[in-house]
Amino acid sequence: MDIDNPLTIEKLPLAALKKNRHLSSEKTKKLMELKTQNTAGHFPDKIQAQKAKGKLTARERLAYLLDQDSFEEIGLFVKTRSHDFELQEKSPAGDGVLTGTGKIGGRSVAIFAQDFTVLGGSLGLAQAQKIARLMDLALEAKIPVIGLLDSGGARIQEGVDSLDGYAQIFSRNVKASGVIPQISAILGPCAGGAVYSPALTDFVFMVEGIGNMFITGPDVVEKATGEKVDFETLGGTKVHSEHSGVCHFAAQSEQDCFRQIKELLSYLPQNNLETSPITLTADKDNRETALLEMLGDMNPKKPYWVQHAVRQVADDHKFFEVQQNYAKNIAIGFLRLAGRVVGVVANNPAHMAGALDIHASHKAARFIRFLNAFNIPLLTFVDVGGYWPGIDQEHGGIIRHGAKILFAYAEATIPKVTVILRKAYGGAYIAMGSKYMGGDLNFALPSAEIAVMGPAGAVGILYSKEIKRSPNPAEMTEKLSKEYAGRFASPYQAASTGSIDEVVEPKKLRLKLIQSFQLLAKKRLAASPLLRGNMPL
Ligand code: HXC
Repeated sequence: MDIDNPLTIEKLPLAALKKNRHLSSEKTKKLMELKTQNTAGHFPDKIQAQKAKGKLTARERLAYLLDQDSFEEIGLFVKTRSHDFELQEKSPAGDGVLTGTGKIGGRSVAIFAQDFTVLGGSLGLAQAQKIARLMDLALEAKIPVIGLLDSGGARIQEGVDSLDGYAQIFSRNVKASGVIPQISAILGPCAGGAVYSPALTDFVFMVEGIGNMFITGPDVVEKATGEKVDFETLGGTKVHSEHSGVCHFAAQSEQDCFRQIKELLSYLPQNNLETSPITLTADKDNRETALLEMLGDMNPKKPYWVQHAVRQVADDHKFFEVQQNYAKNIAIGFLRLAGRVVGVVANNPAHMAGALDIHASHKAARFIRFLNAFNIPLLTFVDVGGYWPGIDQEHGGIIRHGAKILFAYAEATIPKVTVILRKAYGGAYIAMGSKYMGGDLNFALPSAEIAVMGPAGAVGILYSKEIKRSPNPAEMTEKLSKEYAGRFASPYQAASTGSIDEVVEPKKLRLKLIQSFQLLAKKRLAASPLLRGNMPL
């Protein structure tokens, strides 16, 4: 070629262009053939077996979850380098996982989907490196990463390479923590150490009937402990969404799971440098929340679902609850106020009188830390009589676990608005976003009772001798309790000391909250010296 007169496309005669196109189209044809071959699925019998279990294939999952035609695959041709155990034939191109980027609701995400039809989706080194590379890309591009898990765990044939592969993923989970949202969906088995990647992510979804998570399966459990158990009872969706708290969202079907993932993402920013998108609403800022008046007329011991109060103030009455069936004494989740996303933590008197116990403390603290990492303001609704008493709680470490909630509130630098709906007693009052723990604006409804403890407990201590000496202790306790309640069981002592900024008319609460979060929207605090604080985990 003439170096001083290089051939450019403009200089090529049409005939040559056509010829070249023909030449390159052969190569392109080959590429297309390879792509078709590798995307069609390698083992029809395994695809059939996957369907027989009521499961979608990895590619179908991506098609359901991502915006139409938005998947851009990365690493389609990656293959295991191991030649042991006929792995070259058994694990063709792709190595049992699809990785790439796509869009959800028009916003970019990085995504991987394990393919159970290839060696049970087991993870060898090449698969691990595909996932790790994707996570690096997600961190560089500052976009959320989603994992669709369906795997028998470490690929046994690859030995320690598989374990090293997991280590590469775990270390990236930690590096990405608090920088980009990380979401895991368990759509099949997730066994052994493999469970720790989802556990390191922010939100875990599980699909009933097909998703399982456990460190050791039923066989090993029986050998080690003599306990007989099946997959569902050991580590099914119900167990992890109701008892262990490992699962944040339980889904009835894969489609339901994908719908919920999309909804969750709509509340989240893409990364820790951004804020959540603002969504238009027809709900009026000054819509009255008169239903909250009922709290004033209610017996203070009467249970009610706090979710009703939360929905009252939310745009379009919509509350997207997280860990709905775990530690139900505290409700956490997302709502919007005049289009702006807010995270909610609320005591729920319908369960254990809304008291704080070990699980509730952990649940709330982790959620607050998530909000803080991703610039999502925090709204706290308080109706709590205290920490839950009992030997189990004390021996289980309620002191240590209860302290998590104090730590999480105090270290959070996001806008924090607290509303006392009804009871706010003792240590639980302090813990739940109180003013001197760093609350920006603290309100109370007229129904609020803010005191060191409830009236009956307080008079029992203050007047124990008088009550014992009284001819009618019950009557005396009731009389004294009423006097105490009149004096302390209201918001006004707290308002007189500045612990409460304002006592708000119930019907105006939505407007008050909208104005408060608008006011605080630009709150930015310098990095806290607690950045490396040692939370009591
Ligand atoms: C290699 C595996 C595999 C694995 C499954 N397969 N798990 N291959 N390594 N870990 C293969 C099977 O041999 C089979 O291959 C195919 O995947 C489908 O598996 P089936 O058993 O036929 O399917 P099913 O009946 O649905 O049972 C799925 C399963 C079961 C429950 C996941 O396969 C199972 O118990 N696997 C082992 C799970 C486990 O103990 N994993 C922990 C590994 S140790 P063919 O060719 O027959 O189709 C670990 C430690 C990680 O993960 C530590 C990280 C820190």
